[in-house]
Amino acid sequence: MRKFNFLSLSLLAGLYASHSQAQKTFTVKVNEPVVAIQPTMWGVFFEDINFGADGGIYAEMVKNRSFEFSKPLMGWATKRKQEGDLLVLHRKEQTNNPRYLHLTARNAAQGDLELTNEGFRGMGVKKGLRYDLSFQYRQPATGITLHIALQNSKGEVIGSTVVKPADGDNQWHKQAVSFQATDTAVKGKLNIWLEGTGTIDVDMISLFPGDTWKNRPGGMRGDMVQLLADMKPGFIRFPGGCIVEGFDLSNRYQWKKTIGPVEERQLMINRWNVEFPHRSASDYFQTFGLGFFEYFQLAEDIGAEPLPILNCGMACQFNTAELVPMEDLQPYVQDALDLIEFANGDVTTQWGKVRASMGHPKPFHLKMMGVGNENWGPQYIERLKVFTKAIKEKYSDFKIVNSSGTDPDKDRFAYLNKELRSMNADIIDEHYYRAPEWFLANASRYDSYDRNGSKVFAGEYAAHSKGIGSNAGINVNNWRAALAEAAFMTGLERNAAVVNMASYAPLFANTDAWQWAPDLIWVNSLGVYGTADYHVQKLFSLNKGTKVLPLTWDGKAIAGQDSIYASACIDEKTKEVIFKIANVSAKPQNPVLQLEGIKSVATVAESIVVKGDLNDVNSLETPDKIAPQYATVAVKNKKVATTLAPYSFTIIKVKMQ
Ligand code: AHR
Repeated sequence: MRKFNFLSLSLLAGLYASHSQAQKTFTVKVNEPVVAIQPTMWGVFFEDINFGADGGIYAEMVKNRSFEFSKPLMGWATKRKQEGDLLVLHRKEQTNNPRYLHLTARNAAQGDLELTNEGFRGMGVKKGLRYDLSFQYRQPATGITLHIALQNSKGEVIGSTVVKPADGDNQWHKQAVSFQATDTAVKGKLNIWLEGTGTIDVDMISLFPGDTWKNRPGGMRGDMVQLLADMKPGFIRFPGGCIVEGFDLSNRYQWKKTIGPVEERQLMINRWNVEFPHRSASDYFQTFGLGFFEYFQLAEDIGAEPLPILNCGMACQFNTAELVPMEDLQPYVQDALDLIEFANGDVTTQWGKVRASMGHPKPFHLKMMGVGNENWGPQYIERLKVFTKAIKEKYSDFKIVNSSGTDPDKDRFAYLNKELRSMNADIIDEHYYRAPEWFLANASRYDSYDRNGSKVFAGEYAAHSKGIGSNAGINVNNWRAALAEAAFMTGLERNAAVVNMASYAPLFANTDAWQWAPDLIWVNSLGVYGTADYHVQKLFSLNKGTKVLPLTWDGKAIAGQDSIYASACIDEKTKEVIFKIANVSAKPQNPVLQLEGIKSVATVAESIVVKGDLNDVNSLETPDKIAPQYATVAVKNKKVATTLAPYSFTIIKVKMQ
């Protein structure tokens, strides 16, 4: 394969100067659509990595709210008057969340008996916003008052309330109180001190902001979900990623443990806690407050098809590679069948009833599921066949997403690709974390794929500016990476006959707690921004069209000639012809877009341009350094004379008349 980089592409462009200076005419045949673009074409990949769920989109502000982390007081600073006034105990009747605090107050005043939670690398507190605190308690009498305060990093109070636990019957109760913040803090804390005399047991101390998505109590961060909703993604893949596999089988993701009452969902260590020694996060756990019900609900909210990925009976092959013996695979297969019933089953079915009890009697219309994440080898194929048979026997139209391993080439990929295609696999999930040059060189990757065979899901990809995730710390979401992705994506669109789905990965990262970079959207406790890559993904999704149109330059698809990559599609609903063009060279270029096979078009077209220096990045401070710019451009005689800026991605939308 030829090796490209942005520099050599520019030199190449110089060598062919005579060609580039000649008039470039890109011809689209509007009356010859090639193939339908699936509504699922551009989606999002969600994984609880980089504090994407706990400490991210799941808006819970208290870290280790139920004292179940390996170290029960991690995240909490405590004060007590004498030894024994604060004990960590177990309740026998609550096996999923057994630990609680037993507190003894002795004529306590401020400073005597206190708990302070640091949040997920600091709590984000917004002036004027309502905060909802809740906790479980049990006490033999009603002698204790709790003083609740939000504090800034200096320890100053920026919102407070007082609550007296109401019942003194020695039974567990839940109590809630809301109060307003009087100031903003990015590294806030929650402080609780006890006043009075007596004992009290406390558990599940929880704090949510009042501005969650759709104002759902215990819900998700509204600002983060909004960025997803703005993309109008065709699907949302969840819960990962390697998290599906677990570092061993006990650590695998089990959806049944993530539904039902939140306080009964059993916490588990997050595999990214220990995955990368140079980015370890000892405080990274999965509370599953964001569980499968919430994922389905999120998909529904943002109009995306849900795509759950389930463990196939294999733990991560980079870690333990632990395998479930074939004779013990049945419970795993049953989990898959039960998930379909949970999502779609009538409320009279066992799992449909559970969904209804959680507040969603209507089905979630699940149509597909992934079996395995980055699994490979004959052990995978053997297990996959059992899943496929069981699922197809019961749900013949249901689509299965199959793994092609970790890389888009070499022996593992070749083996799986051959096996899966011989099985007539519905959809094959390909992953590529590669250098920007790889994306440019592979813009024609799918031109030669069998149009009638298995479909492709480009399930995880991102251009890595320096190296892949395990070398994290050096990859940035610069324009160079995003532009290479845009160029590559024109090749995905051109090959929509083969590629039915694609998603950048990973989705979210917390600036203070990430393990893997680059990522599509970065957040801290208060802010969120979309990277250059986010804008590319969003533009493709918002302009996805309904059918591919043939777009050629000198009779050939445009996939790198003179550093230009381009595709075209028609949107039959909005009656638009949409061109997507990446210019990865340092020079401006001026192709003419010629529309053929149509009588007339509007005289003004919409243009959307993203451009920048190759090293430009967005950040919390400069979130719009790389962002789309909107303008109009004239259309004369069904021709658009474009000016493609150096290093730019341009969308031109021409209305048909
Ligand atoms: O996206 C980060 C990780 O990359 C995913 O968890 C895994 O599937 C891949 O190796």
